Amino acid sequence: MNVDKIRENFPHIDDMIYLGAAGSAPFNLVNYNAVMECWNRRRYGSTLGGTDHAWFSEKDPLAREEGAKLIGASPDELCIISRVVQGLNLIKDTLGYNEPWKKGDNVVMTDQAYPSTGHTLLALKRHGVELRVSKHRDGRVMREDMEKAVDENTRLVVINRTSVGSGFTYDVKQVCEIAHEKGTYVLDDAVQTIGSKVVDLHDDDVDFMVTGSYKWQCGPPEAGFLYVKKSLCEELLPCFWSYINVDKGPGITGFDKFPFGAADHDSVKTYDYPFPKTAQRFEQGTTATDEIWAWHAVLKWLNGLGKENIEKRNMRLGIYLSEELEGIGCTVKTPWNPEPDALNTHRHALTMYTTGSDELDRKTTAQLRGRPIKQVKGPTMKYQAGYGGVRVSPHFYNTEEEIDLFVAYLKKLMS
Ligand SMILES: Cc1ncc(COP(=O)(O)O)c(C=O)c1O
Repeated sequence: MNVDKIRENFPHIDDMIYLGAAGSAPFNLVNYNAVMECWNRRRYGSTLGGTDHAWFSEKDPLAREEGAKLIGASPDELCIISRVVQGLNLIKDTLGYNEPWKKGDNVVMTDQAYPSTGHTLLALKRHGVELRVSKHRDGRVMREDMEKAVDENTRLVVINRTSVGSGFTYDVKQVCEIAHEKGTYVLDDAVQTIGSKVVDLHDDDVDFMVTGSYKWQCGPPEAGFLYVKKSLCEELLPCFWSYINVDKGPGITGFDKFPFGAADHDSVKTYDYPFPKTAQRFEQGTTATDEIWAWHAVLKWLNGLGKENIEKRNMRLGIYLSEELEGIGCTVKTPWNPEPDALNTHRHALTMYTTGSDELDRKTTAQLRGRPIKQVKGPTMKYQAGYGGVRVSPHFYNTEEEIDLFVAYLKKLMS
């Protein structure tokens, strides 16, 4: 992997040491150039040039193709959303629309989930649904704890594939096995994984997945995918109805899909088509066209680099960072091992450490931004369920030299 070439796409990272991909990726030219191409086509070309409406844009199907390749899915299992929390709510509401939530039902999450998982599921309490929270052990959620939490009354298990704080990456295939044995669904929030670590949704047998593009995928701020397993695209009715989400029959694509132009347009008859047997039935209207252009460009770029190559590099950066941090007396709280063994399959570059004192963690984290010449940006304090410290998230554009500079400065601050 040519890191110098990757860095050329990030014009600001020579002026700082950017270690915050888990928050959001730094500005990059792949993204920017695609947005500009879209807007230039708008300004100088025709409005019919694929830039006026995301649905008619040539980039829409291409983005789905590249996205499907990156996550081991089929393009017709993808629905475009703008943020993760939209996808979480969409699935909660879709399940309730198909079978009303009721007292006696339960949903399972972990105490290492991002807060929006809890907020989304909390809405079910008014229906009497029990919210079960499986607790971590040293940042990990163990198989036996998940098995205890899930039973025949569980209607949904929400797993954050990589914990936003501890960096622990779950074996989602195992979570799906446990859930499916009880006849329940798994919703995988993979925003902290995709773009850094290989994800294969078909192999894991995931039911639903949500992701946004602006972190490890280095994409625009308001683009994301909701994945719905093929069989569920046919089984579940959408809770959000739109004239866009209809199927007018085989071979009818593009503008002809819509009721415009029919002699009886606007009569009830033209509304009444079945839903397509794809994730298109879950779409919530039109998305931002320039964001789709940008996301398509970024996904294509990541696929060109190769997800296995990115994973290898990020795993190496994560292990290198962990070794260096422990070398100056910090404790790495992300489950890891110096050898590239099985434990490291449960992590990538996202790394949580502590200096040993909460006060010192806070003080040094604030001071890192004042590092002379090049500030260190990205490390943030993160605590969940009593587990936490400082989160550092290098990505494929970072170098070992940058990690050395960060660790050497931290050592100085700690003394
Ligand atoms: C695991 C996880 N899920 C969801 C989000 C938030 O996503 P959004 O703002 O797109 O809803 C974050 C943000 O850090 C996250 O880490």
